[in-house]
Amino acid sequence: MILHMISGVKISRAVYLAALSVLGAALFVATDAQAGVPEGKRAFEAGKCASCHQVSGPAAEKTIKDQLAKKGPELWYAGSKFKAGFLERWLADPEPIRPLAYNSITERNRGGHPRLSGQEASDVAAYLMSLKSADVKPLGIRALDNPRGRIAFVRRYSCYGCHQVRTRGKTVGGYSGPSLADASERLNPDWIYAYLSRPAVFKPVKRMPVYSGIINDEEMKGLAAYVGSLR
Ligand code: HEC
Ligand code: HEC
Repeated sequence: MILHMISGVKISRAVYLAALSVLGAALFVATDAQAGVPEGKRAFEAGKCASCHQVSGPAAEKTIKDQLAKKGPELWYAGSKFKAGFLERWLADPEPIRPLAYNSITERNRGGHPRLSGQEASDVAAYLMSLKSADVKPLGIRALDNPRGRIAFVRRYSCYGCHQVRTRGKTVGGYSGPSLADASERLNPDWIYAYLSRPAVFKPVKRMPVYSGIINDEEMKGLAAYVGSLR
């Protein structure tokens, strides 16, 4: 009987049972979200993914030679960089992200990334999403197409000269950086802000110019919100 009292309000048995089942479903979802992590870690190791991807931080590369020796982008901050849902979709159907082959400035990216089956993609995604960086603060920057961000991206800093974007159904922009055409599906705006403002943490050796100290904090947040809204 005492269990049927919530905050001193007497409730019917039916409502009580309904509440219990909602609670049960919520608990199930919560544990299920983490359930794939150990399986995903095992699949990551078995799939030799680590031969091309770094999964523990901090950034290991110190020289251009170190960067050129890398065969794929680092994933040690994947859980802070990517949006939930994106990794699972991408691992099952890996469409090229970078127009050019990794570390190349001339060779086209021919695709052909290892593909994972449904369950494996989901487990590996859960594992990668558990890899967070404390340097990405949860600021809650919201993806937003804002005029200041757009002007900064297109004109002031020519981000567009190195990154592809989609306007009116057409893909335009430079080839040297990863495509940002689907950034709204892929990237967490808080990570974009952290990446732009503290490049040494995420990319100590890089081809992209350093903008920290050039773009002020407010403009940087607007730019992160804008990039995060690209589709
Ligand atoms: C031979 C090297 C190689 C192997 C093995 C490999 N990858 Fe990759 N991976 C790459 C390259 C290169 C890219 C960049 C692809 C692109 O931009 O289109 C990439 C991209 C990724 C990305 C997106 C990262 C980003 O920043 O854009 C994820 C996630 C990923 N790989 C996971 C995996 C997993 C999981 C495995 C094991 C099943 C794996 N990779 C095996 C080379 C590799
Ligand atoms: C000279 C070419 C160049 C310019 C200009 C440039 N970028 Fe980049 N960007 C790159 C390259 C190359 C990378 C891949 C990492 C690296 O090597 O630095 C990158 C990576 C990124 C990433 C990470 C994407 C991912 O999926 O990993 C973001 C976000 C980004 N740039 C945003 C910007 C913004 C915003 C601007 C303008 C303020 C800008 N870039 C200007 C070349 C450029």
